[in-house]
Amino acid sequence: MITKQKLEIKNYKKIAVTPRFCYFQPKAELKSTIAQEISYSLSQKNKFIHPKFFYDEAGSDLFEKICSLPEYYLTRTEIEILSSIKSELSKYLVGDYALVELGSGSSIKTRKLLKVLTTKQNDVEYYPIDISNILKDSSINLHDEYDNLKITGIIDQYETGLEFIRQLDHKEKLVAFLGSSLGNFDPENGIEFLKKIRFSMRKGDLFLLGIDLVKDAKILENAYDDSSGVTAEFNLNLLSRINRELDATFDHDKFEHVAIFNKRQKRIEMYLKSKVKHQVFVSAINLLLKFKKGELIHTEYSYKYTIPQIKKMAQKTGFKPVQIWKDKKNYFAVVLFSVYGI
Ligand code: TRP
Repeated sequence: MITKQKLEIKNYKKIAVTPRFCYFQPKAELKSTIAQEISYSLSQKNKFIHPKFFYDEAGSDLFEKICSLPEYYLTRTEIEILSSIKSELSKYLVGDYALVELGSGSSIKTRKLLKVLTTKQNDVEYYPIDISNILKDSSINLHDEYDNLKITGIIDQYETGLEFIRQLDHKEKLVAFLGSSLGNFDPENGIEFLKKIRFSMRKGDLFLLGIDLVKDAKILENAYDDSSGVTAEFNLNLLSRINRELDATFDHDKFEHVAIFNKRQKRIEMYLKSKVKHQVFVSAINLLLKFKKGELIHTEYSYKYTIPQIKKMAQKTGFKPVQIWKDKKNYFAVVLFSVYGI
């Protein structure tokens, strides 16, 4: 009999790099997804590009640069919080925990968590889930640094990665979702996503969430529109990617990066704005796009939260806050949750 686990893993290709590092990749190419999704999203009245397409190789490199920009306080602040809570966090991790991380981006944060686990435990299993191939490089670096680390990477979207994780039979898990990435979902989908995370977990598992807090609009807008233009380049890279992968004729100079804080919705809104009336042709999908002067392509939202909102979301999704840590300026929160139910 074929078990469900085997069925699911059947859709993945397993690549063993070393005895302590392997990764899984979906057999189906992402390319067809790009063609289908872009042809839909750019044909709408309100054009948009799904933010998952930010993270090709160039995009991932640019995002690493964003993380060390002076205006982008998020990464710095979160790292600061994680550094200061190591011993407190360690107390909650009774027994052996595997680390599951959604997004493997900047490994500095991962290192803070691995430091806690590798000092306490003889062996540590680490499951990074990331849509980007950057997962391979960051994993190899970690592999070389910690002798007692066993890494199983999943190069896929979070949702499918979580499905995969749910079927693995192992010890207790610490699931980390850092970088305020939850803020990139709108609140309704954020709740659905938290439920999926909750569903991949069992009693005794812990969930660590890093989330950006509501603050002064100027500070927020500067974080998403830096003076050196790296964020603009990151946003515009979406167009280059479509040029490269779908053989399109987007011209960077005809678009500009826009980031505004919507106070009512408590979100940063990111757009690519057409500076002039013009047309773009996407050969691979035979699509002619017409842009008006000032027309916007929506690329990402980044919602900001308050502590009461975070608590309410937890309640709706089967999580119980165990501890909330913030930095001195109250810019950012790292929250540890236990799970209830089951
Ligand atoms: N998760 C990050 C955030 O919301 C993603 C991000 C940072 C981002 N800067 C960006 C996304 C600029 C699009 C454009 O902070």
